[in-house]
Amino acid sequence: MILQAKDLSYAYKTKKDRLVLKQVSAEFEEGRFYAVVGSSGSGKTTFLSLLAGLDSPVDGMVKYMDEDIQRKGLNYHRKHHISLVFQNYNLIDYLTTEENVRLGGSKNPGSLLDKVSIPCEDWKRNVLQLSGGQQQRVAIARALASEARVLLADEPTGNLDEDTTQKIIELLKKMAHEHGKCVIVVTHSKTLANEADEIMEIDRGMLKKREKFKLDKEAI
Ligand SMILES: Nc1ncnc2c1ncn2[C@@H]1O[C@H](COP(=O)(O)OP(=O)(O)O)[C@@H](O)[C@H]1O
Ligand SMILES: [Mg+2]
Repeated sequence: MILQAKDLSYAYKTKKDRLVLKQVSAEFEEGRFYAVVGSSGSGKTTFLSLLAGLDSPVDGMVKYMDEDIQRKGLNYHRKHHISLVFQNYNLIDYLTTEENVRLGGSKNPGSLLDKVSIPCEDWKRNVLQLSGGQQQRVAIARALASEARVLLADEPTGNLDEDTTQKIIELLKKMAHEHGKCVIVVTHSKTLANEADEIMEIDRGMLKKREKFKLDKEAI
């Protein structure tokens, strides 16, 4: 087990009496691909933020390799243990596409940008000149470059078309199954969730494992 949520409870400071997460526990292994699902507002982003060390729980703890992430500090956790694909989080707005991926630790950003289907004419453009969906893919390329053993992604296929979504799913799977990473993805997409090794659902502040979604072929 590489990452563990232990009895995590969380409330936003402005709504102290409302627990978004109530004693949530979960265990995550390397080499596995996890999907976290739940209706909008159920606390998925909050949960991922706690795992990422972007915020602290009001109760309980997050452990990395069996150590409370507070011990070395949340900055240390964010810097060394995890890579993040969060909207509006990790792209540096004054750098080019290529420079952003290089910052993730890649010596060959082009090959990663190629994997997420960013055409080479966009590599040297300022990253803000790219569309929302393209920026999302740059963030994914950047996370793929990271040495961190845990990859956390919040709705990584949110703005993407079906073909690109499929490509991203394949990449995330590969990161888990071939590169041995622990991949945790928050998603609305039942198709993406069904590709995961394990699906977890947040409902009324509680987290539980769930079965694959039954997909209605007619509806696709
Ligand atoms: N910064 C915030 N301040 C106060 N409440 C928030 C904040 N961010 C989210 N919430 C509330 O916390 C709950 C969970 O939000 P979130 O984790 O973003 O859900 P999800 O990602 O599943 O849509 C929602 O009710 C939301 O309104
Ligand atoms: Mg969210």
